[in-house]
Amino acid sequence: MKLIKDASEMTALAQTARAKGRVVAFVPTMGYLHSGHIKLVEAGRQEAGKDGLVALSIFVNPTQFGPKEDFTTYPRDIERDMKMAAGAGVDVIFIPRPDDMYTEGFKTFVNVEALSDRLCGAERPGHFRGVATVVVKLFNIVCPQIAVFGKKDFQQFVIIKRLVQDLNFPVKIIGVDTVRDPDGLALSSRNTRLSPEERQIALALPRALNIAKEAFLRGEKSAPAIAGSVKNILEKHRLLSVDYVNVVSVDALEAIDFVERDAVVLAAVRVGSTRLIDNVVLSC
Ligand code: PAF
Repeated sequence: MKLIKDASEMTALAQTARAKGRVVAFVPTMGYLHSGHIKLVEAGRQEAGKDGLVALSIFVNPTQFGPKEDFTTYPRDIERDMKMAAGAGVDVIFIPRPDDMYTEGFKTFVNVEALSDRLCGAERPGHFRGVATVVVKLFNIVCPQIAVFGKKDFQQFVIIKRLVQDLNFPVKIIGVDTVRDPDGLALSSRNTRLSPEERQIALALPRALNIAKEAFLRGEKSAPAIAGSVKNILEKHRLLSVDYVNVVSVDALEAIDFVERDAVVLAAVRVGSTRLIDNVVLSC
């Protein structure tokens, strides 16, 4: 596995690979890799083929963190990440220098309107503007034909698909289903922050979403009733606070009254100081 820190070197490598007919698949991450990221790498390899070039970036992007958020304390372990990425078959790991990504005087941002302001965007103003901006920068540097994102960050996935379509990026976006621990908790780099007691409490989130899906499968179609049942379960836990629970359409993320087409239940909670998100798709 090759380590690249320089953006122009990354671009040159990708362009050379493409000129030789290799498909470049890209997995953007903020590091502290877990099995969910490895699944993204596997999906990238599958799409790019065995002769393809699988690139994984690690960059804790400051512009997607609010002033009171955990940018400085976000978990980081580059040595461990390098070993995991190499073991998963990543060909090139790109770890840009923060000063190269945001040079002095940086003023240009990408904003996917409306989709970025609701749900997590309402709780975290500017978050998706930071995500969209860094993803566009990384696409321009890594020049992939394929990019892979996890569906745990469902809103992010929808925003990236919109962005690629709106700005004519010749990149195929692949979404990979959420990977869970055996107890049901969706994998997230932030899970390491949970104490054993908090982790037990956090399990209410996947449980409540599962119960909502079962109710839907039994015939419940009212979006407020589905969201309400999830909230009721979550609010029973004294040490868990609910940021939001919403049932929305899968591609426009618009609030709906009845689940008549594919929809998704999106939820965000706080357990102690850790914010967790999860979702379940209701397929019609
Ligand atoms: O999902 C993430 O890890 C980040 O939001 C991303 C896409 C790497 C952009 O910083």
